[in-house]
Amino acid sequence: MNRTFPKTFFWGAASSATQAEGRKIGDGKGENIWDYASKEYNHRFYDGVTTETTSLFYRDYQQDIQKMQDISFNSFRTSLSWSRLIPNGTGAVNPEAVAFYNDMINKLIAKGVEPFINLYHFDIPMVLQERGGFENKEVIDAYKQYAKTCFELFGDRVKYWFTFNEPMIPAEAGYLHDRHYPYVVDFKRAATVLHNIILAHCEAVAVYRKMNLSGKIGIIMDVIPVYPRSQNPADLYAAEMADLFYTKSVNDAILKGKYPERLKDVLTEYNQVPEVTDADLKLIASTSIDLLGINYYRPRRVKAKECVPNPQGVFSPEWFFDEYVMPGRRMNTSRGIEIYPKGIYDIAKKIQTEYGNIDWFVSENGIGIEGEEAFIEDGMVQDDYRIDFLKEHLTYLNQAMSEGSNCLGYHMWTFVDCWSWGNAYKNRYGFYRMDLATGAKTIKKSGLWFKELIENNGFD
Ligand code: FCB
Repeated sequence: MNRTFPKTFFWGAASSATQAEGRKIGDGKGENIWDYASKEYNHRFYDGVTTETTSLFYRDYQQDIQKMQDISFNSFRTSLSWSRLIPNGTGAVNPEAVAFYNDMINKLIAKGVEPFINLYHFDIPMVLQERGGFENKEVIDAYKQYAKTCFELFGDRVKYWFTFNEPMIPAEAGYLHDRHYPYVVDFKRAATVLHNIILAHCEAVAVYRKMNLSGKIGIIMDVIPVYPRSQNPADLYAAEMADLFYTKSVNDAILKGKYPERLKDVLTEYNQVPEVTDADLKLIASTSIDLLGINYYRPRRVKAKECVPNPQGVFSPEWFFDEYVMPGRRMNTSRGIEIYPKGIYDIAKKIQTEYGNIDWFVSENGIGIEGEEAFIEDGMVQDDYRIDFLKEHLTYLNQAMSEGSNCLGYHMWTFVDCWSWGNAYKNRYGFYRMDLATGAKTIKKSGLWFKELIENNGFD
């Protein structure tokens, strides 16, 4: 084997409740923002396919967990659905949800698949959204109670907890870029949501520490490494700003316990500082995590803004940089994003040099492809492109690890093709193909390759 990984390395995939469980078939589940948007904003979902059409994990979880064992996973991340567990956001717990998640966790453990449990994957209960969602500080308290309930119910068996998946996304997509409900476009409100999510994360970590459970707790971040067009100061400034707003803001708060000074300066200059109290800053400063998950899909290439900055319209990080369309870049045309395997190495290096070489793992990485049925031969998706994608990224990861990066595992997005928010089922990501018409789940070539990889703990 040219590329080998430690014996203890975590191999598996990631998924999330709303994207996989299925809406209607849930017993006693309350509505979350996705269920609501599915009804009211159907046109916002590709082909009008909404949360009703998922990979049916709630119904099929036992067979699905068997399928994980079939391809030798030793770990799997999913999220709990807040609105399934606590249908009104606060208060009474739904016993059927408790039974479901207990059984899911027990079955995973029984099959040798370590459960990595995330508390929040973009899916706030609708009743709490109606009270202002994460703009409202009271929601932080509701989240804290929800987290405590989860730790009490499942903390004896779950050893790896995550407070949020991609904390930036609910703020950015829901309050700035008009992609997620409530479809608001207002920087200051987005910043408030992000700040409050960070506080909610800190509160959950504090609750977990107090309970003296034996596991680890962390958070999952989406990191988009930024590359400037050139070393020209104007291009470097554009890159600095893109990184500051979209990555450093939240990474520094979580991993260094403070927001970057530079961010404060820029927001002050443009009168965009959200309400932040001394008590908030103290809480952020006193919180640390045990394990960091990194979702990596693409790089961001930027160049200097041609007209700097555009004083019209809603304040936005995009005032400070333009996208740079690099000649010769390699694209995943289904998603319209660049494929850049070295990005994973650059992230690993940054964690090593800037963030204390904390224990981390790749919590999502993957390639979404439209029209995969065209690649079916002999009843199997022949997704060689996915195998190549895996090999290239894992090669760079392996290199970073040989240079001292503390990477503990690699989770592919995703296990079975699942519903992906506004993109619905447009792009497929899974090791198993989901046939939406019949509900059948069949292994792809990449699933078989991944099994071999895990069994050999490496590849040539
Ligand atoms: C990530 C999300 C995940 C999935 C993939 C494609 O940003 O965490 O839910 O939709 O993108």
